[in-house]
Amino acid sequence: MAARAMRHLALVHGVNLDMLGRRPREHYGTLTLAELEQRVAAYGQERGFAVGTFQTNHEGVMVEHLHHLAGSDVDALIINPGAWTHYSYAIRDALELLPAPFAEVHLSAIDEREEWRRRSVVADLATVRVAGKGLEGYLEAVDMLVREVAAGRAPWRPEPSDD
Ligand code: DQA
Repeated sequence: MAARAMRHLALVHGVNLDMLGRRPREHYGTLTLAELEQRVAAYGQERGFAVGTFQTNHEGVMVEHLHHLAGSDVDALIINPGAWTHYSYAIRDALELLPAPFAEVHLSAIDEREEWRRRSVVADLATVRVAGKGLEGYLEAVDMLVREVAAGRAPWRPEPSDD
């Protein structure tokens, strides 16, 4: 099979992340979502990845977008699920369907904040996890996913059940 000229990276944000720039800056910094997306897209592009962006505040819409990505030729995903990280089994189940590796990224240090933020229901599915590094964390995730895609490793997914 001929190698594709450009790889595809999806950059997906969940609930309340459209409000970046207006959320507490000590946790989330000052960039708006559009600015953050632009910076990550430029960084990915320089590394041969076309970056498609998406954000929603609606869980079902996010699930359907993940279904769409699971059936697409996307090579890797960066997702910041926002508060859904901590409790959305629906988003976890949708991520299970994604054959490509993904990075779970958080702007803030979720392990150093409230107790309820320390739990991530998607963590074991993620090939890469970065938290507390702001925009830098996204760029780090791009670098790690670029290496992962180049290595052609399949991500861990739960075995489908026989019964
Ligand atoms: C977040 C952390 C979550 O706990 C929070 O609900 C968010 C953003 C982060 O990027 O640090 O909305 O995912």
